[in-house]
Amino acid sequence: MRMYDLIVKKKNGKALSKEEIGAMIRGYVADEIPDYQMSAMLMAICFQGMNAEETTALTMEMAHSGDMVDLSSIEGVKVDKHSTGGVGDKTTLVIAAVAAACGVKVAKMSGRGLGHTGGTIDKLEAIPGMKTAIDQKKFCEIVNRVGVSVVGQSGNLAPADKKLYALRDVTGTVDSIPLIAASIMSKKLASGSDCILLDVKTGSGAFMKDLEDSIELAKCMVSIGEQAGRQTMAVITDMDIPLGNAIGNSLEVIEAVDTLHGQGPDDLTEVCLTLASNMLYLAGKGGIRACRKIAEDAVSSGRALRKLVEMVEAQDGDSSVILDPGEFAEAPYSFEVKSDQSGYVSHMDTEQCGIASMVLGAGRETKDSIIDYTAGMILRKKTGDYVEKGDTLAVLFASSEGLFPKAEAILKTAYSFSLEKPAEKPLVFAKVT
Ligand code: URA
Repeated sequence: MRMYDLIVKKKNGKALSKEEIGAMIRGYVADEIPDYQMSAMLMAICFQGMNAEETTALTMEMAHSGDMVDLSSIEGVKVDKHSTGGVGDKTTLVIAAVAAACGVKVAKMSGRGLGHTGGTIDKLEAIPGMKTAIDQKKFCEIVNRVGVSVVGQSGNLAPADKKLYALRDVTGTVDSIPLIAASIMSKKLASGSDCILLDVKTGSGAFMKDLEDSIELAKCMVSIGEQAGRQTMAVITDMDIPLGNAIGNSLEVIEAVDTLHGQGPDDLTEVCLTLASNMLYLAGKGGIRACRKIAEDAVSSGRALRKLVEMVEAQDGDSSVILDPGEFAEAPYSFEVKSDQSGYVSHMDTEQCGIASMVLGAGRETKDSIIDYTAGMILRKKTGDYVEKGDTLAVLFASSEGLFPKAEAILKTAYSFSLEKPAEKPLVFAKVT
């Protein structure tokens, strides 16, 4: 089997067999297939797509390219949740605690942020002392004892994805539904949970900018999960507006804590309760309405917040910042971005909001960039709000005043205005089972 022949086959729109896909991925991970040939294959897949059998075969091969995490020492149903990524998405911090407070085991491996999107591990590491590199034995022990642990992906989780993703990132081949589905689901399957809830983001801050593509991606991933014997469901949620008001690592932890106090922004609270109730539903805790009530009670009783405190302490974090978020270190400088015009905010380019936050130091331009946990922004106006000229659109935070002019200019391009109030859009568009 020559890689050259496989590239030509895919270029001509033919389906690759399971054996061909297996040989290709194993050969690539073993450095027998060079990047230039794999780049040509990735581009051919971008143009010609893959059918369901090919996508599943690719996912399974990528999942088995490294460790398959064994969670069998954890008692009870293990539920994982994965977001396809966005801006201001701190839902994991809230819903992992809610689900665990309701008796579901959450053994979650999360990623770091890159570019305009944030990552849960960076947010957790904003908590002083918090460890996210934890060995398998301790991870399972924490989940058994506390009910929840969120750690970074082990070095050998789906190494084929690590190598392929780095190549896709520099060859313009990220935005292919089968490649995204295989990338995400290979890591989810290797992570070992029984049930998987996928939060597929849609809109200007998401990978998938339009709803149809988001639904197609969700269907593709749910089908892979089910074929692999995992109970899988997807919820399509809005990422056309940043989620909540805070963007940036410690700012987002503070907002997550507010949400666990029942005092979070309405949009974030609604998305968190929707996701948490679907996690409980997947774990067999009852019908979806009953699960929503159970999730709401976990928040209003304070049990979910206590779970987050327990998890932070189990991972050596300083829980005083969760108990009193005023204890978080603050950025030395802040700057208010003022509106140049009056009108309704008609649209936000959410990706640009993420980029402005990255410029302030809250995100990574490259994989090796250093994060400033105190940096970011609090949005004061979002889509649908009325703004007078001179009103504050957002407050920026950074460790150097010199970062403000560029971030301000980018953020201003993210806002569009109109005289009419824009029609309200749903936060949750669809569910794919
Ligand atoms: N997230 C992933 O893990 N992989 C992709 O391809 C896109 C988003």
